[in-house]
Amino acid sequence: MHHINDLLNFSTADLTEILDCAIKIKASPEDYRDALSHQSLAMLFQKTSTRTRVSFEVAMTELGGHAIYMDWQTSNFILTDLAYEIEYLSRNVQVIMARLLSNDDFQIMADASQVPMINGCCDRYHPCQALTDVLTMIEHSEKPLPDLHLLYSGVQNNVSNSLILMADRLGFSLTLATPEPEIRAASFDPRLQAITQDSEKINHVDDPRIAIDGADFIYTDTWIDMQFFNDPEKKAEKAALLTKMQPFQVNESLIEGHDLMIMHDMPIHNDYEITPGLVRDPRSIIFNQAANRLHAQKGLLYWLLNAQTSP
Ligand code: CP
Repeated sequence: MHHINDLLNFSTADLTEILDCAIKIKASPEDYRDALSHQSLAMLFQKTSTRTRVSFEVAMTELGGHAIYMDWQTSNFILTDLAYEIEYLSRNVQVIMARLLSNDDFQIMADASQVPMINGCCDRYHPCQALTDVLTMIEHSEKPLPDLHLLYSGVQNNVSNSLILMADRLGFSLTLATPEPEIRAASFDPRLQAITQDSEKINHVDDPRIAIDGADFIYTDTWIDMQFFNDPEKKAEKAALLTKMQPFQVNESLIEGHDLMIMHDMPIHNDYEITPGLVRDPRSIIFNQAANRLHAQKGLLYWLLNAQTSP
């Protein structure tokens, strides 16, 4: 049984199969209307979401299955042993997706679950977003995936971690322009750090201008964890972070004269990590990328429940 988490145990073939499922289902959705008939997905949220919730729920509907939304605060997950609640839940549904504050909780849940668990974003990984991002890159370029160069400019976080894994397994070039490899950050994973150090196609720079020549895509993400964005107690920390991150902002000056496409996983914070002009720039594929969450989710659910060939 596969759990979708750090993806470190996933091969190039596994990830290619998932992406191929997404591409096929997107091309011929009518052929998959009953693909997950009588199958249920439970969706657990400790944190807010727009895209993850909508895309998983619509994916299940369009594949003939059913999705159950569960808010952490209004379920008994807040009252008792996490492993007990997950074991119970996994006896009722065929797959569980959870958006959690900590990957430690995901590990407990994966150990207790009798069905596949999908990480819908935590402090360390965002595998569903990274699958979507690769699907979007494939769709928006004539070049084969291994010839593409993705420049990520922003903070080291769950998204950049999952992009490292994708680049390593699928062979595209990835440059991470971040202030420094933040080894004390909550998202730090030494296994991904080792992959980055060993790879010729994944590297780190401390200025996005160094790496922008030849980049096919520039990608950014929010600088501040969503649960802290409006927290008054984090005001000073947020101000310091904004100053530190300003050189990494995706703006008109950075990309002037460069023929590349602009990506952002949303939600967007205008004039922080990106300027609003670039969100609507002709080079922006941000809304196509966000819409692809649905198609990536369909591919992933179909692969997990119907199509996977390895145990
Ligand atoms: N990109 C993403 O995960 O969006 P949501 O937080 O809205 O789910």
